[in-house]
Amino acid sequence: MRHFILAIFVLTAPGRLVAETGYAAWLRYAPIDAAVRERYDTLPANVVALGDSIVIKTAQAELIRGVRGMLGRTLRAEATLPKESAIVLGTFAALKPYASTTSLPTSLKEDGFLLKSTAVNGLPCLLIAAPNDRGILYGVFALLSKMARHESVTGLNDVQQPYAPIRWVNQWDNLDGSIERGYTGRSIFFENGSVRADLTRAGDYARLLASLGINGCTINNVNADPRILTDDFLPQLARIAEVFRPWGVALSISVDLGSPRAIGGLETFDPQDARVGAWWGRKVEEIYQRIPDFGGFVVKADSEGRFGPSTYGRTHADAANMLARALKLHGGVVFYRAFVYNHHLDWRDPKNDRAKAAYDNFHPLDGKFDDNAIVQIKNGPIDFQVREPASPLFGGLRRTNEAIELQITQEYTGQQRHLCFLPPAWKEVLDFDLHAGGSSTPVKDLAAGRTFHRPMGGFVGVANVGMDTNWLGHPLAMANLYGFGRLAWDPNLSARAIAEEWTRLTFGNDPAVVRTITAMQLASWHIYESYTGPLGAGALTDILGSHYGPGIESSERNGWGQWHRADHEGIGMDRTVATGTGFVAQYTAPVAKLYESAGGTPDELLLFFHHVTYTHELHSGKTVIQHIYDSHYEGAEQAEELTRQWSSLKDQVDEERYAAVRARLDYQAGHAIVWRDAVCNWFFRISGIADARGRVGHYPNRIEAEAMQLQGYVPFDVTPPENASGGKAIECSGQAQRCEATFRFDRPAGWYDLDVEYFDQNNGESRFRLFVGDQKVDEWAANDHLPATKPGGDSSTRRRITGLALRPGDQIHIEGIPDGGERAPIDYVEIRAK
Ligand code: GCU
Repeated sequence: MRHFILAIFVLTAPGRLVAETGYAAWLRYAPIDAAVRERYDTLPANVVALGDSIVIKTAQAELIRGVRGMLGRTLRAEATLPKESAIVLGTFAALKPYASTTSLPTSLKEDGFLLKSTAVNGLPCLLIAAPNDRGILYGVFALLSKMARHESVTGLNDVQQPYAPIRWVNQWDNLDGSIERGYTGRSIFFENGSVRADLTRAGDYARLLASLGINGCTINNVNADPRILTDDFLPQLARIAEVFRPWGVALSISVDLGSPRAIGGLETFDPQDARVGAWWGRKVEEIYQRIPDFGGFVVKADSEGRFGPSTYGRTHADAANMLARALKLHGGVVFYRAFVYNHHLDWRDPKNDRAKAAYDNFHPLDGKFDDNAIVQIKNGPIDFQVREPASPLFGGLRRTNEAIELQITQEYTGQQRHLCFLPPAWKEVLDFDLHAGGSSTPVKDLAAGRTFHRPMGGFVGVANVGMDTNWLGHPLAMANLYGFGRLAWDPNLSARAIAEEWTRLTFGNDPAVVRTITAMQLASWHIYESYTGPLGAGALTDILGSHYGPGIESSERNGWGQWHRADHEGIGMDRTVATGTGFVAQYTAPVAKLYESAGGTPDELLLFFHHVTYTHELHSGKTVIQHIYDSHYEGAEQAEELTRQWSSLKDQVDEERYAAVRARLDYQAGHAIVWRDAVCNWFFRISGIADARGRVGHYPNRIEAEAMQLQGYVPFDVTPPENASGGKAIECSGQAQRCEATFRFDRPAGWYDLDVEYFDQNNGESRFRLFVGDQKVDEWAANDHLPATKPGGDSSTRRRITGLALRPGDQIHIEGIPDGGERAPIDYVEIRAK
C-alpha cells in the first residue's frame, strides 16, 4: 500500500503546482513527468558548439539549462566532436568539414535553422545548424520548446525560416523610468534620467525575445527625448547593447528629428541642410564605435506635436533618407513611422478624416525612400482600436520597404486588466487581401516585402513590458508578446495553434488546462469588443485621457479625429466616396467595392465606413441599436463566464498564478458591467429607442447609493453621467472621517450574493466595512492602481461578497473611511439570490 501511495505521489507531483511568479514566462523548463521523460532517453549526453561566438556559446548554455530543468540531466559542453553521439551546434560554414557525412540544405534564409537527426562521423547526432549564429540560438529554443510541449525529438528533419528579416519590438520607455502606455511598472532600462545600474531584467527580456526569433528592440519612447543622443548617454546605451548581444537582439533607439538643434548646437534641424546631415553622420559614427551591432533608429515626426520635416517644407522621405544615409555605412536601418496626422482637425467638416492621413502623407512618396529606410505602418488607419480595417497604405507602397506595427501593450484593449488575446485580431489584418496587384496580396506579404520584392520588411510590436515580476501584469497577457513573436516568425500560424503552444509552455500540458486556457484566450478579443465598441466604431473609451474606461462622447467635438459621429438619428463615419470622406478610395477597386456600400461591408466594420440610422438592419437581421444592447449584455455575461472557466482549473494551476488571474478576471467581469451600462444607457438616451428585451435602464436588484440613508456621505453627479449608475454616486463630505450608507433589505429570507460597486482612485486608499445588522461581514481597502483620480468609468470597481444569509428587515450598512483625495465613493449595491 505504501509503495502504491508513493507511486501515485511520484506520478501526480509534477512541477506544475509549485508556486510561480510568471517571471520565467514561456521559458519555464518545468520538470517533465517520468512517464513522458522516457521519450527523451535517446537524447545525446554531449552538446558541441562549433565556434566560440557569444551567441553560439549562449545557445549551448541555454540548451544545457533547458535540458537540466526538464530532464534533470546536465549535458556535457564540448567544443569539438567527441567520439560519442552529440547534439551539434554549428553554422553551415563550421559544418563544412563534415559535409561528406551529412547533407545540409543549400539555401536557408538568415536566422533560419535546421533540426536534423543524422549521422556525423558515423555517430548518431542531432544537428542544430543554421547559416548564422543567431539561427543556431533559435534552433536551440525550438528544440527546447518541442520538449516542453512533450513532442518527440527523434528522427527530426525540421527546417524553419523567418517570414521576414524585420522582427522587432518597440518599448515606449522614458528616460525618467516611466513608460508611455505601459501598465506594469517602471522601465527595465531607465530610471531617473539614466540607464539602470542593474540590467539583469533587460538581459532576461532579450532572452525571451530571442526565444521567439525577435532580433531587434527599440528601447525608448517614440516621443523621443533628445538627451538619449548626448555624449554621456551613449556609453550607457552600450551597456544595454551588451546584455542584448548574447541573445542576438540588436539595440535601437527612437530619435527626435529636432536633436541637432536641441542638443547639437545647430540652429536648425532641416534635413536638407548639410550641417544637419553631417551632425547625424557624426552621431551615428559615435554610436557604432561603441555599439558595432547597433540596429538603427525609429522616428516619429510631424505627429502629435513632434518636430518634423514640415518645419522646413521638406518631405518625410527627405528626413528618412538623411538618417538612412548616415546609418547605411554601418548596416543600420531607419524605421520611419507612418503614424502622421493632424490632431487639430476641424470636427465640423464632414469631409475631414484622420483615417486618410497615413496614406495621404506617404503614398505620394512611394519610391522615394532609401533601401535601408522602412515605413512603419500601424495595422489600422486610426490607432490600435479594438477593431479596424487594414490600413490601405500597406497596398499603397510598392517601391518602399514597409513594416506592420502591432500593439502588444493593451492600450485600447483593457490595459492588461482585461483579458484580450490579440493574435486573432492581428490575423484578420495580416490575412486580409488588399488586392494590391497580383492574385493574392495579404497584408503579411506586403509588410514582409514579399509582394513587391523589397529588400527589407516585417513586423514590429509595441511591447512595453515593465518591472512587474511577470512582465505584462496579467499572467495571461504574455500570450500577446508570445503571439506577436510567433506571428512575426510565421504569420501563417493560426491563433489557436499559438494559444495552445503558449499555454503548454506557460501552464503545462494537462489537457484540461490546455483546452480551457486556449478557449478563454481565443474568445477574449471578441468578448472585450462586445462590451466596449460596437460594429467597428472603435472602442468607445476615454480618448482624451486614460484610453481605458468608457468615455463615449470624449471622441467627439475635438480635433483628434477619432469620431464615431453618434447623434440622435444614427452613428458611424461615412467614409464612402459617394457621400463621405472618400477614405474608401484609398483601397484598390475590389476592396473599395466591398466597403463602399453598407450592404457589402461586414457588420463588424459597418460603423467604420458608414453612418447609418439606429434602426438600420444588419446582415444578422438585428437593428444597429439592438445589436449594441445585445452585444454589450452578451459580452458582460461572457466576461463572467471567463471567471467560471478559470475556476475549473483551481487544482491544475499553481496557487500564485491561479489567484492572480482570478483576481483580474473578477475585476474584468465587474468592469464589463460598468462598460455595458455606460454604453447602453448612453445610446438609449441619445436614440430614445428602448431595448427590446427591457434590460437597459432597469436594474431590479440594484440599490443606488444616493437612495440610501446617509451619514457623512453626500450624493454628487458623476461626469459623464453614464459612467455611474443613475448618473450619481456618494462620497464622504469634506470634513468627514467616517461615513455611513444604510439601507433596508426587504426581500425574502435566503442566501444572497452582494456586490458593492465603489470607486477606487489612485489618490488615496479608502477603507470599507460592510455590516448586516451589527455583524461585520466584510472589509476591504480600495488599494488597486486604476488610472483615475476621480470617481468615474476608469475607477469604478466592485467588491463581491458571496453567500450571505439575509432576512427581510435586515439593516445593511456600509462604512467608508476616506483617505487623501479618495472620499470612499460608492455607486450602488446589487443583491442577487444565490
Ligand atoms: C497613441 C498613443 C500615444 C503614442 C502614439 C504613437 O496615440 O496613445 O501615447 O505616442 O499612439 O503611436 O505615436
